[in-house]
Amino acid sequence: MGNEIAADTGRPELAPREYMENFGEFIGVGPNGNLWVDGCDVAELAERFGTPLFIISENQFRYTYRQFRDAFRKHYPGESEILFANKSNNGLAYRHIMNQEGAGGDCFGVNEMYLSLLAGTNPQTLVLNGSNKQDEELEMAVANGVCINIDAMDELDRIDAVCRRQGREVSIGIRLKLDLEPLAERSGVAMHGPGTLKEQSDSTKWGMTREQTVEIVRKAQKMPHIHLKETHFHLSRMSNVAMDFAIMAREMITWSGYIRDETGWTPPCIDIGGGWTFGKWYGTGPRTQLDDDSAPTADDYARLCTQEIKAEAGRLGLPLPKLRLEPGRSLSGPSGVAVGTVGAVKQGARKKWVNLDLSTNHLSWSAALDWYYHPVPVRDARANRSETVDLVGPLCNSDELGPHVRMPGLKRGDLVAFLDTGGYTEPCAARYNAQLLPASVLVSGTSAEVTTVREQLQDIAGRFRVPPRLLAASFARR
Ligand SMILES: Cc1ncc(COP(=O)(O)O)c(C=O)c1O
Repeated sequence: MGNEIAADTGRPELAPREYMENFGEFIGVGPNGNLWVDGCDVAELAERFGTPLFIISENQFRYTYRQFRDAFRKHYPGESEILFANKSNNGLAYRHIMNQEGAGGDCFGVNEMYLSLLAGTNPQTLVLNGSNKQDEELEMAVANGVCINIDAMDELDRIDAVCRRQGREVSIGIRLKLDLEPLAERSGVAMHGPGTLKEQSDSTKWGMTREQTVEIVRKAQKMPHIHLKETHFHLSRMSNVAMDFAIMAREMITWSGYIRDETGWTPPCIDIGGGWTFGKWYGTGPRTQLDDDSAPTADDYARLCTQEIKAEAGRLGLPLPKLRLEPGRSLSGPSGVAVGTVGAVKQGARKKWVNLDLSTNHLSWSAALDWYYHPVPVRDARANRSETVDLVGPLCNSDELGPHVRMPGLKRGDLVAFLDTGGYTEPCAARYNAQLLPASVLVSGTSAEVTTVREQLQDIAGRFRVPPRLLAASFARR
């Protein structure tokens, strides 16, 4: 079942695996009944690399990317380009994989941009987003030819000043504050507090109003160093309904018409952001709107967005723009598995708690967004789930990773994996209770290589400083 690597591109031909039970194309219950990632038994990986452990399937990541790429190629008659949202898993190895696949990237902040450039990503395929860009970011973006999506009224002048100083030109986009009137009654996942999709979007700091957008365009048109390249919007993970995204994309075209009428400039490219979901038959995602088999696929998004963009462009007599999209979670999420080891198992009067060494430090969305990740016993993964337990971490809070889940009788030393944890886990991992950040390994076929080394105590303790006067006072007391 080896995947051949095409010599010229580094891109392997991908043949999905058939497991006893498939959780993805490259994740499932392997021949010995354990959970496998590609050609590796997760129990062996846990033994070799320790827990808590993040495991990423390289081939799943590539496969999911290709599904998105191919869906938009199939449905959208114009050019389309996928910019992987680096924030969802910004490790260098993953950026290299995306480079090989031909994907661009959405960078947030100077360090994500630096990491992308360090990994050799073509700067023309990167965008820099952010509501409060620092001078250092603008300098780096201009020096390397990275498109900057403007999100503040003073940003254009600052970029222009950098261009003049460096003697370089740069492309810009403008992040829009869409009106989203057609979504005024729609509600979804409360990512940004309560309210409808429109209310949630309106309440965030992102984007420029119509008037502000027009002002920026008019000003930029007079700046010889500045090239207007795109408009941008990101609906965020507020909805799991594909049509909501299509309506958003349609409104971007409506704005293109307005911008053209006001300024004479028609955006040649629209970047419709990320927020795209994915579903699994066993369920994953926000508990308020769990994603299962019925969740939209890349094909649904591509078909519906194309339909709405085409209709609106036709109505307004606009050419079809180049389409950029910035999926994060939908690409990285399904490729990752997080593994923990069972410690104390406690039976209470009404409940049983199974403690793991994995915590909400590592799966922070479980706590912050009430996110559900499907847990699977690693050894004998299809064992009868005979008990209802709370899977908890060791932190000094309730640290619930999986409340009220069905599991086989678990005991100290057993392993539990959470599926679909490839996005926003490692980049969001915290150190509460001085927990050390886990290692990550990349699996491809039967090989497994460390992509992030496990943190050591010295990494935490070494950053601490005690002002000498405190030292003196402590020792004086003895
Ligand atoms: C501008 C932008 N693009 C893309 C994304 C990726 O979103 P997701 O991972 O939900 O696809 C984000 C996430 O915050 C974002 O802010």
